[in-house]
Amino acid sequence: MNYVKNAWYVASWAQDLLPEKPYGTFILNEPVVVWRNADGELAAMEDRCVHRLAPLSLGRCEGDKLRCMYHGLLFDRTGAVVEIPGQDLIPAQARVRSYPAAEKHSWVWIWMGDHEAADEVLIPGAVGLDHPDYILGHGQLDYAAEARLINDNLLDFSHLSYVHANSFGAPEAWAYERPKITMLERGVRVERWITGESAVPGEAIGQPIERFASYDFLVPGVLLMTGGNFPQGTSQSLGGGAPDMSKALAGVTFTSQAVTPMTDKTARYFFSWGPHRDHGDEALRDTLMGIAAMAFGEDKDIIEAQQRVMDATPDFRIMPTTADRGVTLFNRLVEKLARDERTRLSVAS
Ligand code: FES
Ligand SMILES: [Fe+2]
Repeated sequence: MNYVKNAWYVASWAQDLLPEKPYGTFILNEPVVVWRNADGELAAMEDRCVHRLAPLSLGRCEGDKLRCMYHGLLFDRTGAVVEIPGQDLIPAQARVRSYPAAEKHSWVWIWMGDHEAADEVLIPGAVGLDHPDYILGHGQLDYAAEARLINDNLLDFSHLSYVHANSFGAPEAWAYERPKITMLERGVRVERWITGESAVPGEAIGQPIERFASYDFLVPGVLLMTGGNFPQGTSQSLGGGAPDMSKALAGVTFTSQAVTPMTDKTARYFFSWGPHRDHGDEALRDTLMGIAAMAFGEDKDIIEAQQRVMDATPDFRIMPTTADRGVTLFNRLVEKLARDERTRLSVAS
C-alpha cells in the first residue's frame, strides 16, 4: 500500500467507543485496538498480544490497563506488559506498539507514523456532530475495495452525472465542466459553479439560482465539502471565484467524509451530512441522509465492481482523462509524502 503514515486516520465515531469496551480494527494493514478507560481517556495500541498474538480487543479493561484474555498478560497504556501471571520476570521485549490517539470533530483519530511527528494541528478540520451551525446525520460503510479507489472517486465528481443520476439527480454539467483545482499543503481544493436550468434539481425558491460547491480533500483521505445556492449571475460577477458562503440564499450544507484503508483490499468510509441551521431542519437532514444512503451505495457498487475487474487484470493500466486532474495531483502528493517518509527513515537507520 502506498499511503502516508504520518497522518491522522479515522478509526471510529467517538460516540461509538464506549468506556472499557475495546474496539479492534485494522488501519494500513496493522491490527489496532482503541479503548477508553473508565474516565473516557483514549489509548490505542497494536491489537496483537506479544505472547501468542491473540487480539487485545477481546481483552478486559482493568483501570488504566488492558488484560489479554487468552493467558492474562496485562498491558499498560503505552503497550508495555506490566504483569505476567505466575512469572516474576517481565522481559524487556514484552510490549506492543502504541499509537497516538485523539478525539476531535466527533471522530477518533489514530496517528500511524512516528510518535514524535504526531501533531494534532494536522487533524483535518471536519465539522463535528455537535457543531452549533449544522444539523448533521452520520454513518459509515465498509468497502471490499482498496481505499485509494474511494479517494479517487471522491476526487473526481464527474461521476456524479452517471453514478448518481438517480440519487443526487446530478446534471450533466458535473461531467462536462471542469472544476477549479488548487493545490493545498496537504491536499487539493476543488471548486465549481453549476449554472444553467438544471443547476439545482427540484429547488424552487422563487428566483433563478446557481450552485457553488467546494471541497478540500486532505491527507490521508478526508473530504470536507460545503455548497450553497446563489442568485443567478453570482458566478459571473465573481469571475468564477468563490462566493461568501454566508451570502447564500439557500441550500447550504456541510459534509465531512473520511476514508480509512484497513487492509490492501478493505476500507471503512465514515460520513456526516446535513444542512446549515439557517437553511434546513431535522427533516431535511433526514432527507439528505436518505439520499446519501442511496448515493454511497451507488459508489460502493461501482467501486467494488471496479476492484474485482482490477483483481482479474494482471498489470492493468489506466488511461487518465482531464477530469482526473484532482486525482492525479492528490496521488502525486501522497506519493511524495510517502517517499519523503521512507527517505527520512533510511537516513535515520
Ligand atoms: S496470547 Fe495474550 S496472554 Fe497469551
Ligand atoms: Fe459518488
